[in-house]
Amino acid sequence: MKKSIAILLAGMFLAACSGGKTELTFNEVEKVQSPGGVLELKVGITPEGGPVYALSRGEQVVIKPSRLGFELLDEENLLTGFTVTDIQKNSFDETWEPVWGEEAQIRNHYNEVAVTFEQKPEAARSAQQGVSVTDPEYTGDLGNPYGKGSVMTVRFRVYDDGIGFRYEFPLENKLTYFKIKEEKTEFAMTGDHTAWWIPGDYSTQEFNPTESRLSEIRHLSDVPRPRGGSPQQGFSPTGVQTALQMKTAEGLYINIHEAAVLDYPTTNLDLDDKDFVFTTHLTPDAEGVKGRMQAPCKTPWRSVMVCGSATEVLASRLVLNLNDPCVLDDVSWIHPVKYMGVWWEMITGKSEWSYTHDYPSVQLGVTDYAHSNPHGRHGANNENVRRYIDFAAENGFDGILIEGWNEGWEDWYGHQKDFVFDFITPYPDFDLPALNQYAHQKGIRLIMHHETSSSTLNYERWMEQAYDLMNQYGYNAVKSGYVGKIIPYGDYHYSQPTINHYHYAITEAAKHHIMVNAHEAVRPTGLCRTWPNMIGNESAMGTEFRGTIQPGHTTIFPFTRLQGGPMDYTPGIFETDMSKNNPNDHQHMHHTICNQLGLYVTFYSPLQMAADLPENYANFMDAFQFIKDVAVDWDKSLYLEAEPGAYIVTARHPKLSTLNASARSTATLPDAKKDMVTNAAKFVYALPENATAKDLAKATPHDVWYVGGITDENAREVTVKLDFLKPGVVYESTLYADAPSADYETNPQVYTITRSEVTSADVMTIKMARAGGFALSLREK
Ligand code: NOJ
Ligand code: CA
Repeated sequence: MKKSIAILLAGMFLAACSGGKTELTFNEVEKVQSPGGVLELKVGITPEGGPVYALSRGEQVVIKPSRLGFELLDEENLLTGFTVTDIQKNSFDETWEPVWGEEAQIRNHYNEVAVTFEQKPEAARSAQQGVSVTDPEYTGDLGNPYGKGSVMTVRFRVYDDGIGFRYEFPLENKLTYFKIKEEKTEFAMTGDHTAWWIPGDYSTQEFNPTESRLSEIRHLSDVPRPRGGSPQQGFSPTGVQTALQMKTAEGLYINIHEAAVLDYPTTNLDLDDKDFVFTTHLTPDAEGVKGRMQAPCKTPWRSVMVCGSATEVLASRLVLNLNDPCVLDDVSWIHPVKYMGVWWEMITGKSEWSYTHDYPSVQLGVTDYAHSNPHGRHGANNENVRRYIDFAAENGFDGILIEGWNEGWEDWYGHQKDFVFDFITPYPDFDLPALNQYAHQKGIRLIMHHETSSSTLNYERWMEQAYDLMNQYGYNAVKSGYVGKIIPYGDYHYSQPTINHYHYAITEAAKHHIMVNAHEAVRPTGLCRTWPNMIGNESAMGTEFRGTIQPGHTTIFPFTRLQGGPMDYTPGIFETDMSKNNPNDHQHMHHTICNQLGLYVTFYSPLQMAADLPENYANFMDAFQFIKDVAVDWDKSLYLEAEPGAYIVTARHPKLSTLNASARSTATLPDAKKDMVTNAAKFVYALPENATAKDLAKATPHDVWYVGGITDENAREVTVKLDFLKPGVVYESTLYADAPSADYETNPQVYTITRSEVTSADVMTIKMARAGGFALSLREK
C-alpha cells in the first residue's frame, strides 16, 4: 500500500519522549502493529530531519525513540537533513519448511513498512567533467544522473515476537560507491536491565558470558578472560556483542541481534551507560573502513526480540525468518550428522596434531616428511583412526572427524604464516584412500578438517583443490577453523572482507555438495536458512575451553549464540578430570555426566558430536546409550522451563525423514556398506543393535520424545508434565538422572538410570545436581 505523502504530513504530530536523561523529540511518520497486535512500532523524524524509531509492547516501552543513520567517509553523514519521500506498507504470512531444524514448519508472519528518507545535498555533486585522472579530487566518472539526494530506505518488519529492520540504498541515489565510517543505529533501553553479555570484540567470541546490570558492564569488562586461539581485539569498556539477551525489571525479555550478515561487517553494541542507549559499532577492515557499499545495496537486519517469558525466547524464529529462503534447488545431499573425532585427545594434549618435532619451520612441498623422525604422538595415524571408526560404527554414528591429517601442523600456530597448509597432502602415516574405504565399508564417513590458521588468502588459493579431493574420496562435510590473526594482515575476523570469505567458502562448498562447520568464524546470523549446508559453527567458547567453562555457561547460549544458528559445542565429556587423559593437564570440567546428556536436547544442532575418547565412554556405556539413542533433527520442540544463566528443560520430537538420512547418503558411495542404520533410527523403530536397512524398511516407527535438562551451579528440582505425549498411550521411559550424591566438583560421574512405564497423565519430578542435568527418552510401547 502506498500512502500519499501529503496525507502523511497532514497527519504528523509531535511526540516528545522522555526517560533517562535525554529527550528525543520527533514527528511521527508511521505506526505499525504486529499481526496479533502485540507490538507497536513507530517511525518518525526529528525536527533536524533525523530518522527515528520506537517500540512498545502494550503499555510497556521496549525501545525508547532511537536514532537511525550513518557517518560516512568523504560524504555528508546520513544522520540529519532528511525528508520522508515514500512509505510502503505490506503484510506477509508464510509457513516454510527448514531442511533441518527445531521444528518441521516455521511461520513467518509480519507487517512491514518501508520508509524512504532523502537528504538533499547542500551542494549537489556534479559530474567529474574536466577533472583529470591525475587530479587528487578525481573520483571516477560517476555523476548523479538521477538528480537525487542521498536516499536511504529503512524497512521494518513487525512480528508478534520482535522486529527486524534494515537500511536499503536504491540505485536512484546520489550515493553510489560510498564508505561507512560508522553505523549509528541506536537501541535506547528504558532502564538498567539485567544482561547476559560477552565483551565487544572485532575477532573473537571465545568468552565466558557475564550476567550483570547494564550499569555494571564497564566495571566487569576488563576482568581478565581466558584466551583461546583467537586474538582478543576489543574496542570499548562498554562494548558488547550480539546476540545480547536482556531482562527488564518488569519481566520482559529483550534480545538484540543481527540477521543475514552478508557483504557487511557484524556489529558490536556500545553502551552509553548513563542513559542506557546502545549504538552500533561495526567491525572495521584493515584500513578502518566499516563497510564499502555499492548501490543498490542493503545492510543486514537489526533484530529486537521481545518476549514475555524465557521459553518464548527459545521458541522464537525471528532471526531465521528475517533471512532469505533457501537458494539451493537440490538439498537432498544435506543431512544431520552425529559424529565422533580424533580430536579431544589433541585438545587435552594426550596426542598431537603434528607428526614430527624435526622441523620448526615447514615449507610445504619442500619439507621432507617421509624421511623425518615421527615423534610418536601423532593422533591422526592409521591405527588410531581405525580404532575410532570401529567404535563409531559399532555405536551407530554417522561420521568421524580427523584433525592433524595433513602436512603443516609443526608451525601452524602463532606465526601468521601465509602458506600454512595446502589441505590436500596427508602425513605419511595417514592413508587417506584406505581410511576412507575402511570407514565407508563400516557405514561411516570421514569428516574433513581444514584449519586455515586464519590465512583466508591461502585457503581461497587451495579451496577448489581441497573440495575436489573431498569429492574424490567421499567426504561430504568439512570442519574449518580460523585460529590466529587474519591474513590479509591487519584485517579482523568480523570485518566485511572476512565475512565475504566465510560466505565464499559456504557457496563454493555447496557447489561441491559439501556441508560446512566453521570454527572461529563470525557468529551465525540465521544464514543457514538460505544456505542449509552450513550445518554448524563454533563462534563461542565451546567445550574445548575445558576448565575455564563456568557452570551455567550452557544455560545462556540458547538465548544468545544459538539464536543465529546451531553450535558445534562438542558436548559429551564424561571424564571431567583432564589429567586422566593427559597427566600434565590439571583442569577439571564443571559439569556432571547427566549435564552433558541434557545438552543433546537443550542445545539444538543438526551436527552433534560425542566429543570424549572412546575409552572414556567404555567406562559408562549405560549412560552413553542416551547419546546413541538421541536424534539430532526435530519436527517439534517444546521449551518447558527456562531462565538464562539458571536452567533449561526442553522436549523434542524426532523428524522421521532424517533419522537415517546420513546412512542412506553413505550407502550411495560405491565402496560403502549398504545396510547401515543409525542408532537413533534403531531406537525410534525399536530395532535390535544388529538391524539392517532392510529391517528398517519393514518396521513401524514408535512415537518418541526426548527431554533434556541442564542447570547452573545450583542444584534444583524440576517438574516435567508429560502432557505432550499421546493421550491414552503407554510409553517406556528411561531417565538418566544425577545420583543423589552427584556434584560437579566432588562427584561428577554418578547417575541413576530408571526405566518405567508412563502416560501423558504422569508428572515426573527430577533432581539436577549442581551443574548437573538429566536426559529422558520416552518411546511408545
Ligand atoms: C580451534 C578449533 O575450535 C578446534 O576445535 C580445533 O581443534 C583447533 N582450532 C585446531 O584446528
Ligand atoms: Ca575454537
